[in-house]
Amino acid sequence: MEQTTRHYPYQVLTAEEYEIAYRKSIDDPEAFWGDVASHFAWRRKWDNVVTSDFTVPRTEWFGNARLNIAENCLDRHLNTIGNRPAIIWEPNDPDTHYRSLTYKELYKKVCQFSYVLRNNGVKKGDRVCIYMGMIPELAVAMLACARIGAVHTVIFGGFSAQSIADRLQDAKAEIIVTADGAYRGPKSIPLKDVIDDALPVCPFVKRVIVCTHLRNPVSMIKGRDVWWEDEIKKVETQGWKHYAAEEMDAEDPLFILYTSGSTGKPKGVVHSTAGYMVYTCYSFVNVFNYQPGDVFFCTADMGWITGHSYLLYGALLSGATSLMYEGIPTWPDAGRMWNIVDKHKVNILYTAPTALRSLMSFGREPLADKDLSSLKVLGTVGEPINDEAWQWYYKEIGKERCPIVDTWWQTETGGIMISNMAGITPAKPTYATLPMPGVELVLVNEKGHVLPGNDVSGILCIRSAWPSLLRTTYNDHEKYYRNYFAPYPGMYFTGDGAYRDENGLYRITGRIDDVLNVSGHRIGSAEVENAINMHTGVTESAVVGYPHEIKGEGIYAYVVYEKPVTDADLIRRDILQTVSRVIGPIARPDKVQFVSALPKTRSGKIMRRILRKIAESDTTNLGDLTTLTDPTIVDELTAGRIE
Ligand code: PRX
Repeated sequence: MEQTTRHYPYQVLTAEEYEIAYRKSIDDPEAFWGDVASHFAWRRKWDNVVTSDFTVPRTEWFGNARLNIAENCLDRHLNTIGNRPAIIWEPNDPDTHYRSLTYKELYKKVCQFSYVLRNNGVKKGDRVCIYMGMIPELAVAMLACARIGAVHTVIFGGFSAQSIADRLQDAKAEIIVTADGAYRGPKSIPLKDVIDDALPVCPFVKRVIVCTHLRNPVSMIKGRDVWWEDEIKKVETQGWKHYAAEEMDAEDPLFILYTSGSTGKPKGVVHSTAGYMVYTCYSFVNVFNYQPGDVFFCTADMGWITGHSYLLYGALLSGATSLMYEGIPTWPDAGRMWNIVDKHKVNILYTAPTALRSLMSFGREPLADKDLSSLKVLGTVGEPINDEAWQWYYKEIGKERCPIVDTWWQTETGGIMISNMAGITPAKPTYATLPMPGVELVLVNEKGHVLPGNDVSGILCIRSAWPSLLRTTYNDHEKYYRNYFAPYPGMYFTGDGAYRDENGLYRITGRIDDVLNVSGHRIGSAEVENAINMHTGVTESAVVGYPHEIKGEGIYAYVVYEKPVTDADLIRRDILQTVSRVIGPIARPDKVQFVSALPKTRSGKIMRRILRKIAESDTTNLGDLTTLTDPTIVDELTAGRIE
């Protein structure tokens, strides 16, 4: 890797500097984060850097400071890098021309759309639901919400009308921003139709703003639905005007993002303004070793936290050029991602192991005529990366020149918690390696005792607050406490297991709860079970994960059906359709096995350990079966296992 230069006052340049930064961040977090924060634009500086108590639980960063994050993303850069591309947008169709928006252009669009939101009745603190494909207007809508102080909640395009309705009801979002549709590879998603299907149970929705993209026919209800373009025209007739960004409190909520846990309903993770801003920017610059002018390509969808924190906020706060791609990596062919890297001279590529495994399966041919020499740093996120995919990424894509950063974090953590810093601290295949400054990791056993020393495995917890920690779960602070702080008092519980090697480097071993990680998407097994149980004829079900070559984890469902199953394939497909309707296509089980009963203990608890082993085809050691009400069920399950 080339020699790097410090372009940001808080940019770490050597392993020694990392050590010093880490020490300082733990010994004196006030001084450390106060120093990083001083490089942003504040309307009012803070009284206290941090006050936090995990037993309440309550955390505040930069108490009483006033600021606006959109102003920090855009206005702050206008005089220096106003003409640098902020977003390069690569469309789904390779023959459609790409779009590039400079910081100045993006700022203007955001100001205009801020007026549109205001004209449509949106006020500070209101929740705005955004359900759009990966088009620049999505970024504009998010930043305009932040500019006027509204709380955005972005919903991934793969969720169903029912899932949208659940989220709208929880967030009480009265305004929706959507599009007439989205392209995703060979398919298109009728976004507005899906919204229309959600709205009959959400009568509180007052306005739907629809951006045209596909220009497919859509229904537009008088008094409720308006076109994005018409609303912009109304603003334009009044002439171009700067929109004065709303002054926000450091702890005002910035967004809600729904994510799956071990209960049946997704929870609304709430991130606040100042801490999130400081941490996403700091981690962006340092993990990716960002150098001004670099083109950063994050392949995540904006509907997930990676899109929020690095494709959008972290990148723009750092003045980076962020490449936003509408489509999927394998369309129209398996060389598309490499075409994009070549065409836009991408310097930093940030993607998921699932995408790598899928691209790897096409062999070398799609790489043959692609120039990947612009690449400097490679990153992965979302799930454990297996050694084979890591080696392929390093050799075939990075040509053994580019450090790989394996970044571990979560929707709840807001930013990267464990990662090497590209070219600065050591990488180790399949290891996320070291905690970021400000992150105090601990491994505990099931009783909550801290496991000291190295070469040890345990449950991963974090001991003290970092700036981008989620502040609550929307509408339910008690749930926040129960999920994250009650399991191991005084610590944040991640839900993941980890191994710390002999040199103190961390390797994530995966979830220890009932959360599945399918293609890097987080899905609660209870959510899938609830959806399956809604299907007529289903008595009960149990869902577990099993190793899947491309997706990392696949979904295996055991279903008890009330009548004898005569046409298993047809019923299976019906059940998949129900899951698609209730949650969305991303939650469809890969395998469905019909069984006469589930293995349960006398107290009625499903023994998932057995179900997992059978799904993994590891039936040699099923462990103690004596607590089962009916041990003979195990033979039936094993015999009927779906290959
Ligand atoms: O199990 C961990 C896995 O993804 C979970 C968080 O999922 P989500 O909130 O959807 O956020 C994903 C993007 C940040 C974690 O609890 N995970 C995330 N990154 C890694 C990972 N597992 C192993 N290695 C990683 N680098």
